[in-house]
Amino acid sequence: MVFPKSLALFILFIFSLVLVGDAFSGPSVRHGLRQYRQHDMHHGMGHMGKGSCPQVRFTVSAPDEFLRLKNPLKPDSINLFAGESLFHTDAQPTACKICHGSTGNGMGMMAPGLNPPPRNFSCSETMNDISDGQMFWVVKNGLPGTGMVAYKSLSDEQVWQIILYLRTLAN
Ligand code: HEC
Repeated sequence: MVFPKSLALFILFIFSLVLVGDAFSGPSVRHGLRQYRQHDMHHGMGHMGKGSCPQVRFTVSAPDEFLRLKNPLKPDSINLFAGESLFHTDAQPTACKICHGSTGNGMGMMAPGLNPPPRNFSCSETMNDISDGQMFWVVKNGLPGTGMVAYKSLSDEQVWQIILYLRTLAN
């Protein structure tokens, strides 16, 4: 039996409709925006929302000489910008937001696998009890047995800049 030419053309026509439809379906089904609409997130952003607050905290206390430290830097735009850049992208081995979330809510991309969970910097009830010196010591030394690594590559100044920025996240 000969394949009718009209049928072949019809199939081709349907096929092209599918292709054209796909191409013209617009940005609403494109990858990034689709993620946004369904999950309020995109790669690397982790989850939005308030996070757990007040957050239960069993974190080891820094030695007294650290607890007493005050941030020597002023929250001016230069220091805050430096802290923000480190938090979101520049800190090595990995940016803080990967765990602590881009809004500081503790729900970063890697947070679901971590127990205890990353600190929720947006929660003032919890953050008000954590001194600058405690944070400085934790960032410098890490918290063994948790996901919180030591940031040996950051200078003292950089750590204080990050802490200034963290203090802006609480609400
Ligand atoms: C791989 C995941 C991860 C990354 C990256 C990370 N943290 Fe953490 N962080 C944690 C976890 C988990 C905890 C909670 C530990 C606990 O409850 O004992 C924590 C706790 C903290 C605390 C709370 C200390 C306290 O006394 O409550 C501070 C401050 C902190 N991190 C700062 C930072 C900063 C600044 C960076 C980036 C320079 C960073 N973290 C990067 C996982 C991470």
